Amino acid sequence: VVILPTAEDCGRVVADVIAAAVTAGPDGNRPTLGLATGSSPVLAYRELIRRHREEGLSFAGVRGFLLDEYVGLPAGHPESYRSVIRRELTATLDIADSDVHGPDGAHPDPLVAAREYELRLLENGPVAVQVLGIGANGHIGFNEPGSSLTSVTRVKTLTEQTRRDNARFFERPEDVPRHVITQGLGTIGRAQHLLLTASGARKAAAVAAAVEGPLTASCPASVLQWHPHATVVIDEAAAARL
Ligand code: GLP
Repeated sequence: VVILPTAEDCGRVVADVIAAAVTAGPDGNRPTLGLATGSSPVLAYRELIRRHREEGLSFAGVRGFLLDEYVGLPAGHPESYRSVIRRELTATLDIADSDVHGPDGAHPDPLVAAREYELRLLENGPVAVQVLGIGANGHIGFNEPGSSLTSVTRVKTLTEQTRRDNARFFERPEDVPRHVITQGLGTIGRAQHLLLTASGARKAAAVAAAVEGPLTASCPASVLQWHPHATVVIDEAAAARL
């Protein structure tokens, strides 16, 4: 657990970990990154874009896999996570668009789309670094409290709290989709390194439950405790209840 004074400091440290993974292997063997949307990783993404532009950090050949996606938003909808990650990260880096993967939320059968995504992840091989935010209720990806600790990619129903939390991204609160496709806790756990970041007092209770509470489906982020390589990078406000 790394506690730093500000969210900007967290962004730099998260970017350091991702940059190290990207530069580690020879070019023929570029890593797969697990990408999260939401506001938590945005400062880290901005820092990676800065390093790409100013320091020549290259992402050529890197593949990205999203954690989750809304069900029912048409392809290209500005708030689909596929569009968000493009806008906030990958379109500005030298990552080919065809190397960025996410669940197909516009598929006529979301159950099929979920299974297909799990298979694509399995075929791709392990994610080197999985970036994670945390919901105020302890969710990771869209694994709401009660999610099986060994779950795989599947369709989930959002809690009202999560829909309210995400309403700021939509014109009207009722526009927030009710269903999502999310990597499961078991899927996420296959990544070689879990890198969770959070900032602000609103996340303090969830962070404390995830890091110091029991391993329980009631706090999905507590699965980090049984992962062999998990790093939590938080600012002082988010660490206040530790
Ligand atoms: C969202 C996403 C998660 C994200 C979390 C926190 O609903 N599905 O991947 O980590 O909630 O969001 P934020 O970082 O905006 O606080």
